[in-house]
Amino acid sequence: ADSQQQQLIQLHEKAAEVYHHMLVNTAIGETALDYLHKRGLDDQLIEEFNIGFAPNQRDFLFRVFQNESLDSALFPESGLFVERENEALVDRFYQRIMFPIRNFQGKTVGFSGRFLATEDLADKDQPKYLNSPETAVFNKREILFNFDKARGALRKSGTVYLFEGFMDVLAAYRTGVTNGIASMGTSLTNEQISSITRLAQELVLCYDGDQAGIEATNRAIGHLQETSRIGLSVVSVPEKLDPDEYVKKHGQEAFVNLLEHGKETVFSFKMRYRRMNKNMANEKEQVEYVQELLHDLLNVDSLIEQDRYLTQLSTEFQISRETLQQQLRDLKRQRR
Ligand code: CTP
Ligand code: MN
Ligand code: MN
Ligand code: MN
Ligand code: MN
Repeated sequence: ADSQQQQLIQLHEKAAEVYHHMLVNTAIGETALDYLHKRGLDDQLIEEFNIGFAPNQRDFLFRVFQNESLDSALFPESGLFVERENEALVDRFYQRIMFPIRNFQGKTVGFSGRFLATEDLADKDQPKYLNSPETAVFNKREILFNFDKARGALRKSGTVYLFEGFMDVLAAYRTGVTNGIASMGTSLTNEQISSITRLAQELVLCYDGDQAGIEATNRAIGHLQETSRIGLSVVSVPEKLDPDEYVKKHGQEAFVNLLEHGKETVFSFKMRYRRMNKNMANEKEQVEYVQELLHDLLNVDSLIEQDRYLTQLSTEFQISRETLQQQLRDLKRQRR
């Protein structure tokens, strides 16, 4: 089984090399390379992450592999191909910018391919990102993009930044924030959380600033608080931008500044989040708001923080601190 895994990894390493070559050395990859340059990825970063391009040809990789006389026994299980009805194999990835996905040891075990739209190829049916399927070496529940590279910086600082997308991790990496990671476009799993908490004491959630990102942030907080004791904070990217767009619009310095000084506590995020779907001019909704926040306050470990927020709520809604504290104690008792 181990040797099978090694062979699957070899196929992926080979595929990554081939895709990378197509991107940086051939005319076929030119449009993709221009696209990446326009998005701010320079050649050094493209090298470092071994980014590639899968041409718009369904037998491209298959032919390359055949010419290299690689053993085809494992092709079907590699996830690099899909089987047609007649059992013929065709490439899974075509007309896509290829991001190699590496395991914790730094070996390529899968890909995420971003569809490259062109004038004559604005295929609406194509998903923006296509990921490798589950294989013997690619486990989506465990994998975290850039975790292998982030490890060093992460051990030193104890902090990890969690982004929504690969392009955000790369945007951060460019600005010198190398301890950024992302999941495969899904919410964090328990396996991923335990890998993270083994190395990091603090996790900064920096998802997209749009509504979907805000909802995902709230879900991630809930899940992380249930399953770990890691220190959490939130960076909300303004103007509904994602981190990559923010770097593009406001520059690297502004982004680093946002990450360093724009961190807020989970509770401060909750205060904004709980407000979002409420009409705060309505008294009933005000009361609901305070009640929801008291629940959130149960998850605040720091007594200093708790005290501060109680005062804040008490002042804002003219409820005595004693009442709020009593209610908080009741909630605590109920939860046990
Ligand atoms: N994603 C996915 N499949 C899709 C869309 C998104 O797997 N069809 C995942 C990808 O991992 C992506 C992440 O969700 O990186 C975040 O999605 P989104 O914000 O839409 O994409 P961006 O990362 O912003 O991609 P880009 O900047 O290239 O448009
Ligand atoms: Mn190279
Ligand atoms: Mn998004
Ligand atoms: Mn995004
Ligand atoms: Mn983006």
